[in-house]
Amino acid sequence: MRRLIWLLPLALFLNCKDQSAAPTGLVTDQAMVVSARVEASTIGSDIIKKGGNAFDAMVATEMALAVAYPFAGNLGGGGFMVYRTADGDVGGLDYREKAPLAAHKDMYLDSLGNVIPNMSTVGATAIGVPGTVAGIIEVHEKYGSLPLKDILEPVIALAQKGVVVTLKQAERLESYKERFVEVNGDSTKFAQNFKPGDTIKYPELAQTLTKIMNEGRDGFYKGEVAEKISAFVQAKGGFISEEDLEKYKAKWRQPIIFNYRDLKIISMSPPSSGGVTINQIFKMMEPYKVSSFGHNSVKTIQLFTEAARRAYADRNFFLGDPDFTDIPLDVLLSDDYLKARMNDFSFEKATRSSEVTYGNVQVLESMETTHYSIVDNEGNAISATTTLNGGYGSKLYSEELGIFFNNEMDDFSSKPGIPNMFGLIGAEANSIAPEKRMLSSMTPTIVEKEGQLYMVVGTPGGSTIITAVAQTILNVYEFDLSMQEAVNAPRFHHQSLPDVIMFEEVGFSEELKEALQAKGYHLLEGRTPIIGKVDAIRILPDGKLEGGADKRGDDQAVGF
Ligand code: DON
Repeated sequence: MRRLIWLLPLALFLNCKDQSAAPTGLVTDQAMVVSARVEASTIGSDIIKKGGNAFDAMVATEMALAVAYPFAGNLGGGGFMVYRTADGDVGGLDYREKAPLAAHKDMYLDSLGNVIPNMSTVGATAIGVPGTVAGIIEVHEKYGSLPLKDILEPVIALAQKGVVVTLKQAERLESYKERFVEVNGDSTKFAQNFKPGDTIKYPELAQTLTKIMNEGRDGFYKGEVAEKISAFVQAKGGFISEEDLEKYKAKWRQPIIFNYRDLKIISMSPPSSGGVTINQIFKMMEPYKVSSFGHNSVKTIQLFTEAARRAYADRNFFLGDPDFTDIPLDVLLSDDYLKARMNDFSFEKATRSSEVTYGNVQVLESMETTHYSIVDNEGNAISATTTLNGGYGSKLYSEELGIFFNNEMDDFSSKPGIPNMFGLIGAEANSIAPEKRMLSSMTPTIVEKEGQLYMVVGTPGGSTIITAVAQTILNVYEFDLSMQEAVNAPRFHHQSLPDVIMFEEVGFSEELKEALQAKGYHLLEGRTPIIGKVDAIRILPDGKLEGGADKRGDDQAVGF
């Protein structure tokens, strides 16, 4: 009897998913911002301290990333934001770029119908109409509580004072230098050699931000700045016109919402594939006792891979801009369909993605998007992912305005069946049309547990974004890791085609890989990049916040 009493707490512990791991990341009482740079997290957190809400902090953080992390933070790109207010209202904002009016389906094909190398990835021809400024202004107008001036002044001050170059940033600037010069000539600001500890000032960007602070949306999409953007891009051979800029609108969209056991997961809807694909992956996994398989075990990797294989196949075929393409969401997300999709899955043997031979993987450029997560002291939560697509986007930089332009046009399917720079193979649903938004993988996500805010999560990583977000949620919920451990944990990825599992270099044993190969899985050979750079917040049972700032970058959680 005595022994039984001793065992009781253990039995409760093992049965109960309410147990949550002790935090190992930064813990704060009231509010937190986690982003790619300490400067941006600090500006965001200070806005909340000054009485702003999470939406004000979003505006500040998004713009501060454009200054402190020009690799991906931007005015010349776009993104997606999912929010949950303290009283449980949820929504999503699409500030994704769109194709210019002059775009057409075959614009990146030569006269023989072949994709013209680099045209959708490098320089002015790759640029979609930027959405970020419209996004932040929309958020501010609808939910902001502080004047735009109070929010943007610290960002402008940062641009004037300058940002200290980190080691990682110096390495990146060095590795991109040649391409900056190719696209912009050797007088470009980024032709310089930057060392860790140097300070880069951005006075031109400060001026552009000041115009936005004073004139709002029109400070960017109309008048002087718009004229300069279109003249500059067109002089370089691109397509963005003043009319494109004037017509750009951010759009509020109903997020994708689904249950996974006792979680409610809220994520971005099309034109991002993130929410739909993560919904399919989770629902295909739900019938299995995932927690009993163990973290990153052979069985967990198999189940996850098979779910991802099927979900990405649907993604690549069915998804595109919902304003242009009919997406059969009711079927794709129905329980019966997803159950049937896994009918041919067995733990004995890998399924094949198709007859297409594997191995045709492109070396992925890594981590060029950026994600930030915010929770304010009232309990409002923001999950936002923003991007130029490639590192520094198209590499085209306006010295006069201080901004890089995206190369987001490459997220369209230039030609059915031909992979884009993430190796993603698209179909008609994601073909190019004027004013259409290109399909994204960005997956800003908020998770509720038993009706309460539980996690805010997202990451860069191109096609690997979706799997990295899913694994982070599973790490906390199924495998009882803290937020920081869940973010740091090694990740793997499968995207249907190419039919290979990609493992991060560190964290997976040879024995595990051999066990998977024995079951028929193909593994990506050679050097593999890191997968994702997740920035997340977990709400602890006592209401405090735990940050997860990815060790893979300079990311940092700041709060109070
Ligand atoms: O929207 C997308 O899915 C891509 N443009 C995201 C690019 C990205 O994450 C780059 N980082 N690896």
